[in-house]
Amino acid sequence: MKDSLRDRSKPRSRQMNRNPQPLFQPKQHDLPSINLQPMKTQIQLPILLLLLLQIACKQEVTDPLSTTYSPERSLKEAADFPVGLATQTWMLDMPQYSEILDTEFNSLTAEYEMKQNITHAGDGSYDWSATDQLLAYARDRDIRVHGHALLWHQAIAPWLEQFQGTDEAFADHVRTYIQEAVRRHADDVTSWDVVNEAFDDKGIWRNSLFLQRMGEDYVAQCFQWANEADSSVLLFYNDYGMIWDEDKLNAMLAMIDDFRNRGIAIHGVGLQMHIAYNWPNISHIQRAVDALVERDLLIHFSEVDIRVNPNGNRDHFTEKMAIDQQQRVEEIVHLYQSIPAHLQFGITFWGLRDTDSWLLGFWGNPDWPLLFDEQYRYKLAHKGFVEAL
Ligand code: G3I
Repeated sequence: MKDSLRDRSKPRSRQMNRNPQPLFQPKQHDLPSINLQPMKTQIQLPILLLLLLQIACKQEVTDPLSTTYSPERSLKEAADFPVGLATQTWMLDMPQYSEILDTEFNSLTAEYEMKQNITHAGDGSYDWSATDQLLAYARDRDIRVHGHALLWHQAIAPWLEQFQGTDEAFADHVRTYIQEAVRRHADDVTSWDVVNEAFDDKGIWRNSLFLQRMGEDYVAQCFQWANEADSSVLLFYNDYGMIWDEDKLNAMLAMIDDFRNRGIAIHGVGLQMHIAYNWPNISHIQRAVDALVERDLLIHFSEVDIRVNPNGNRDHFTEKMAIDQQQRVEEIVHLYQSIPAHLQFGITFWGLRDTDSWLLGFWGNPDWPLLFDEQYRYKLAHKGFVEAL
């Protein structure tokens, strides 16, 4: 099923209902009828005005989706690049979820089920059941699958984490895993995040178990092993922070330049894009994108979510937040559009509904970071995406 990214015909997208009933009807805020008999005394008028003012205040927009938004185009119809979704296999069985997935997206990333702590958890044995389920779903719908992630310090198989053998034997287990994962899925997985988050927040090598046991060249080794297993699979480095931390960006660029000088295959970079409606400045994101374009690397906005409650001080989603998010999505997609077409690997959202987002548990605050609300209703953020194209 693998084909070159640029010439794949867009998968058949189910015909969008061009005039869909909005997925919700805005609540009708009916003002109570008021008997407007001419006031006889001065005192009643101020009371009436106060009453009207009170009613008007109570009519504050409580439903930020009160602006009726009926999408004209799906994300994948609007975009000339793949539009992806991070998913979990149990969600694929939910009819409303899969209906939207099939309509809006043409690329999938496993949010956690293709990581080593899931696929290789038993001492040496593999469990690809969730991976196979996701691949079958994607295959039936001509949806691309991006593999995430062969190596991540937060998802090491427990038996490998506790491995007491020599460093050489440890490295051999890593090589065996990488090559098994890449070879087994050569026909179904277009690309892999080979290593995720190898740099720490200061832009130096993260002191992970991989660094401790394999040394600073471990990332290069992993890319070489993956390329040996399948020379046609696209190999990515994936991380956060390069879009706001120049030290981290420069460290990653130095690594990539070293790979290129050594003839080590690397095809693209995943900029995770866990951002907020007001941060980081678009110029910092542009700086990272420009550096990758200079190096002719595929660019994946790989884990997009857009916090609208970054300070954790909001307890409900307002229309202003919805519009701020819409404008931020538009800004990000505009920037992505400026990337040369042959380097546009795609934009992947890290979850479908606001309530599916990892952010809620991670920060412990309410937030509404994605394109759909808890009831699968289209948010203005979706409008921001399609109207940027
Ligand atoms: O669904 C199972 C549930 O059945 C089980 O009872 C429960 C008990 O462990 O686990 C549930 O799975 C959890 C899964 O999220 C779904 O909620 C896993 O334990 C948990 O580890 C997993 O966390 C994921 C995390 O990566 C670790 O793999 C998050 O969903 C996912 O959003 C997060 O994604 C990472 C990227 O891979 C890399 N960039 C940062 C990003 C956020 O941390």
